[in-house]
Amino acid sequence: MIRRSPSLEMQKISEHEFADGPESLTVRISEVMKEDYGLYVWPSSILLAEYVWQQRTRFRGRKVLELGAGTALPGIVAAKVGADVVLTDHADLLEVFENMKISCALNKADCKIQGLTWGEWNADTCSLQKQVDIVLGADVIYQNTDFDDLFATVSFFFAGRPDAVFITTYEKRSGHRSVEYLMAKWGLSCSTIIDVSQFVPFKKIDDLPSSLQLIEIVPRS
Ligand SMILES: C[S@@+](CC[C@H](N)C(=O)[O-])C[C@H]1O[C@@H](n2cnc3c(N)ncnc32)[C@H](O)[C@@H]1O
Repeated sequence: MIRRSPSLEMQKISEHEFADGPESLTVRISEVMKEDYGLYVWPSSILLAEYVWQQRTRFRGRKVLELGAGTALPGIVAAKVGADVVLTDHADLLEVFENMKISCALNKADCKIQGLTWGEWNADTCSLQKQVDIVLGADVIYQNTDFDDLFATVSFFFAGRPDAVFITTYEKRSGHRSVEYLMAKWGLSCSTIIDVSQFVPFKKIDDLPSSLQLIEIVPRS
């Protein structure tokens, strides 16, 4: 039984299935139907979570940090497949953190949750530098004014970690500054670009926009 606080009145629980031969996982996510970007599951998040599931051996035992996690579906999948996960979002969004905690509890996922506003460095954020193997971000590349802060944060986690990777999914929207330009500016390069159709199971593909893309970004050598 889930207790709903007044601020979570419009809550629903969505179920997300992952399968691969005899292995399967169901993740339950609390969503709140309010006009706040971090309170419902975006298609990019479904795509990134599927990728984490399919690449699960790569995540086992790794330190994973999710930026702009919102409802945190990819991060929770990473935790369920054995990663040590830190879920983050804009430090001012207390309702987003409250909602994330519900989803962690629903899935018995032992994730750390902390505020991390892109381009700002508090003690918690600094303590994670050089610790993170994989940074995740679903639909975090969407607002031109935030791009610099987002990529500055990614390069902060890459400092001294040439083996680290930022895996992100995003929707190609009109008016975007090119991601390539920002990667060059922040000393990053793209190692992988994967189209939705290359790994999403047939039954999930119809629900996802064709403009979605997954890229892996690494420190420029
Ligand atoms: C489009 S939503 C995507 C949410 C979630 N990753 C998903 O795909 O379902 C963008 C997320 O980025 C977070 N965000 C936006 N600006 C931010 C900032 N400056 N610092 C940290 N997080 C931010 C929002 O709070 C929100 O959770």
